[in-house]
Amino acid sequence: MERSLILLKPDCVQRRLMGEIITRFEKKGLNIIAMKMLQVTPELAQQHYAEHVEKPFYPGLEAFITGAPVVAMVIEGIEAIRVVRDTLGATNGRNAAPGTVRGDYSSSRQMNLVHASDGEESAAREINLYFDENEICPYTPTLTPWLKAADE
Ligand code: CMP
Repeated sequence: MERSLILLKPDCVQRRLMGEIITRFEKKGLNIIAMKMLQVTPELAQQHYAEHVEKPFYPGLEAFITGAPVVAMVIEGIEAIRVVRDTLGATNGRNAAPGTVRGDYSSSRQMNLVHASDGEESAAREINLYFDENEICPYTPTLTPWLKAADE
């Protein structure tokens, strides 16, 4: 089992695409075990995007991510980190394959609708940035036997 930190970014909230994208994760069989709406502050943006703070595009990225609320989620599942990223498609919406979230709904590199952790280490760090342990609600869906075989 893996956990990934997902952010429905300000463009997703403003464009009324939250439900559409949450539905895709649910239909895929992934388990949402934490969720909240919040306003990202410049301080949180700098922590989240620590590896990008010195890059030329960072001021625009910070203005974007703090420009409207986001919805933060923790998604759990087998190989969830890769499965979520495959579901979203390439970072730049113009390069994302049709059928992926960004391929279907984004034509931008910055306004790519959703953030997802890119590895186990970043997932643990990012989940910790957005959620306290007591805000995470792991559960076993009763549908589990219809979503995967017992030995998967
Ligand atoms: P995300 O997956 O949230 O992680 C970093 C974000 O920076 C990325 O999505 C893009 O939105 C943004 N980004 C990455 N590269 C660039 C770039 N060259 N110019 C502008 N934004 C970028």
